[in-house]
Amino acid sequence: MSESITITDNRTGESLEIPIVDGGVDAAEWRKLVPGLWFFDPSFSTTAAASSAITELDGENGILRYRGYPIEQLAEKSTFLEVAYLLIQGELPTTDQLASWTHEVTTHTYVHDDFRKRVFDAYHYDAHPMGLLTSSVAGLSTFYPEAKEIDDPDIRMQQIIRLIAKMPTLAASAYRFSIGMPYVFPDNDLDYATNFLSMMFKVAEPRFECPEAISRALDILFILHADHEQNCSTTAARVVGSSHADPYSTIAAACAALYGPRHGGANEAVLRMLKGIGSYENVEAFIDSVKHGDGRLMGFGHRVYKHYDPRATIIKKAAYEVFDVTGQNPLLDIALKLEEVALADDYFVSRKLYPNVDFYSGLIYEALGFTKEIFTVLFAIPRTAGWLSHWSEMLEQDSRIARPRQLYSGVGVRDYVDIADR
Ligand code: CMC
Repeated sequence: MSESITITDNRTGESLEIPIVDGGVDAAEWRKLVPGLWFFDPSFSTTAAASSAITELDGENGILRYRGYPIEQLAEKSTFLEVAYLLIQGELPTTDQLASWTHEVTTHTYVHDDFRKRVFDAYHYDAHPMGLLTSSVAGLSTFYPEAKEIDDPDIRMQQIIRLIAKMPTLAASAYRFSIGMPYVFPDNDLDYATNFLSMMFKVAEPRFECPEAISRALDILFILHADHEQNCSTTAARVVGSSHADPYSTIAAACAALYGPRHGGANEAVLRMLKGIGSYENVEAFIDSVKHGDGRLMGFGHRVYKHYDPRATIIKKAAYEVFDVTGQNPLLDIALKLEEVALADDYFVSRKLYPNVDFYSGLIYEALGFTKEIFTVLFAIPRTAGWLSHWSEMLEQDSRIARPRQLYSGVGVRDYVDIADR
């Protein structure tokens, strides 16, 4: 059997055989037969917009791998910084490579204080931290003008390190600003996750301390969120990066895409939903209202997963480990009941709607002391490693500027009418 398809243009009777490569067909080949026709796919549901060697996602079977390594093994054995190295460099680091990478990231965590004060102080006191994060990341491009030299691999790597290092600092600053507390400088003796917790929560104690289980849980959440192939924000990064914008502007675009409630804003929406449901007894009525089109069950469903999201399985387990230290989040009972009712209901089963990564993550974040406004920021920190690995990969490929076409559906030509005659 030949690994190809043959298409026929019934208008002309001409046929063309197109090879199937890596599960797809090259649209450029297709257009050799039908040059005037466009592929209509507004939400990219049937389009592979990139060829990538970073993350493998098999939604039918609930499989997620970074550079070939199963997410379950990485969550159990690795650390976020090691995973970030893996995503960007393609291989797990040796001991020396990891030490040097960790040193590089750790020593770039500072954000110029002038910049931080001026950018954040320009906002109203109750500004959403995602708005602050998005604009401050974009603003960093003005601090590092050499970042425009995207063809230089050393300069590129320098910005990758800076971005991975500075995202937690900007994120924590955005949070501290939004609650009116003074900024905390990075503590370079702490690991990545603990340093972030310190910048978020330190008050007057000489050194921030927290149980190992807490920083490990956050590090696991960072690993699980580090990449997810061509999702909305990564696609935004690739599209903006394809214009050869600098990496700070590119990552700001990705942050903006992540902010929406259908994407990285879903974890905040889940918490609002759970609080809105209020009690275990109201779950069935809530599920009925969703089935009747009154909103969505947030934290459920996924464009690619038609199976339980493997990240949700790991997060659910991690939630219990966190609750052992912090005490149980009272919303957990509502979440468990929602899952039970939804997974027994034909509406959700027939549409293959299962819990996704956001269904349980908000409960852990809340138990760790994070307010819901900061949840999407917690997603943006690790996803920066994924966005940058895709940005880098795209620049190394022979990529053209992203420029889709449209099917014009407006009115035909007509003459301008003077305002008095309309
Ligand atoms: N609750 C109720 N019904 C749903 C849901 C849901 N969460 N998700 C999809 N459906 C229904 C939808 O109404 C449609 O039904 P019908 O065929 O009768 O019209 C069917 O399922 C297919 O939905 P769709 O909108 O075509 O699916 P999509 O692939 O375009 O959307 C999604 C994927 C994630 C945006 C969507 O499932 C959703 O809105 N989920 C809730 C938000 C959420 O949890 N987002 C986080 C996604 S994972 C993390 C991330 O990517 O950032």
